[in-house]
Amino acid sequence: MSRDVRWLIIASLVVVALGVGACGAPAPPPTEEAPVVPTAPPPTEEAPAVPTGSIEIFSWWTAGGEAEGLAAMYDVFAARYPEVEIINATVAGGAGSEAKAVLATRMQAGDPPDSFQVHAGHELIDTWVVADKMEPVTFIFEENNWLDVYPPGVIEVLSSGGDIWSVPVNIHRSNVLWYNKQVFEDNGLTAPTSLDEFFAAGDTLMAAGITPLALGDSGGAWVDLHVFESLLLAHLGPEADRGLWDGTTDWNGPEVTAALEDFARVMEYVNADHSALSWDQAAQLVVDGDAAMTIMGDWAEGYFKSVGLTPDVEFGYVPSPGTAGSFIMLSDSFGLPKGAPNRDGAIAWLTVCGSKEGQDAFNPIKGSIPARTDGDRSLYDVYLQSAMDDFASNEIVPSLPHGAAASEGWVTAAGDAMTLFVADLDVAAAQTAMAQACVDAGVCQ
Ligand code: GAL
Repeated sequence: MSRDVRWLIIASLVVVALGVGACGAPAPPPTEEAPVVPTAPPPTEEAPAVPTGSIEIFSWWTAGGEAEGLAAMYDVFAARYPEVEIINATVAGGAGSEAKAVLATRMQAGDPPDSFQVHAGHELIDTWVVADKMEPVTFIFEENNWLDVYPPGVIEVLSSGGDIWSVPVNIHRSNVLWYNKQVFEDNGLTAPTSLDEFFAAGDTLMAAGITPLALGDSGGAWVDLHVFESLLLAHLGPEADRGLWDGTTDWNGPEVTAALEDFARVMEYVNADHSALSWDQAAQLVVDGDAAMTIMGDWAEGYFKSVGLTPDVEFGYVPSPGTAGSFIMLSDSFGLPKGAPNRDGAIAWLTVCGSKEGQDAFNPIKGSIPARTDGDRSLYDVYLQSAMDDFASNEIVPSLPHGAAASEGWVTAAGDAMTLFVADLDVAAAQTAMAQACVDAGVCQ
């Protein structure tokens, strides 16, 4: 299966769940110019404006790796548009746990930033596009001839109603287990590929007084959902996992029960102070050797590198136990809100976000791979090259907590169920709540 075909599977998932049918086809490339009619009025289109002033770029990238990646893209922007000052409007909190609420308040008050970070797919389309708060960015794709350098499926995911609504900067992988190589070596362990191996390694580490799995869910339920989505995939496999998001897989089925039971068991192997730590503080436990492993998206790779570690030297990585061959994906993108104070500046920013130069500056530091098909592979480290290969060959599954699989309301409801579950570990109650979240989202009967 080619990369494009896999993207089309994701796209069709998004489209089916949105119920928008076959809309979103990319606009055709500009056609040949029609002969000029001498008596026609002068064209009303303005020549592209040279941006000046300042632009406010809103994101939640404040942790090690993600902040440096963003800064690298700012550098590309500054070199191209020296007249424009960037105001780096960040709201700390992994996965936008705080930023999304701040953004919502601003959008509703008619005070949008010039451009903001948003996950491609449901998070963007179901929220700000349906609320009519965004400008389409199809024209930016056309003017830059990007319709040919992004896989058609990527464009489909970003599209609704025949228009494209944001510019993707990357592809991230959710289902990765990271581990401290020295700790593993000292304890005679190899990277676990199955859940049985994971729990066996956990027992060995516990006996040695080392926390097996670092967890940092102070920023909210997204981190717990993040671990849980890997367990769901391990029990369901990719096809049935995708079915969770279009109503064809039963949330009341035995695989979901097993995933919840395993989550409850995993909680016996995590650091006691997990609710006081953020995702990157949990990653630091692995850096320090206080914990052996963490399950986190590959922005953790960006974090490890930001503190001076090298992939395959100090830290190793495998697909989350039981998920080899599948790639839980998400994509960060930037959009153009209606009423952006500096619209020309925002368009310039989006032009950098979608460019090869911008993506090849950002992603090697961020710990993600380019959304474009023509990234320069030689700029990416050994882990990121493996992610490129897996993305090109694996089954693709959309991420729940990172906006690809389900609407924001569904993510919130699943997160609320998870918060209760972490506190009481009541599998039956959590499964009922998860199943209800699908019904409430209008996807399950
Ligand atoms: C994800 C986002 C990543 C990274 C991570 C932690 O939702 O897609 O780019 O920022 O949150 O903050």
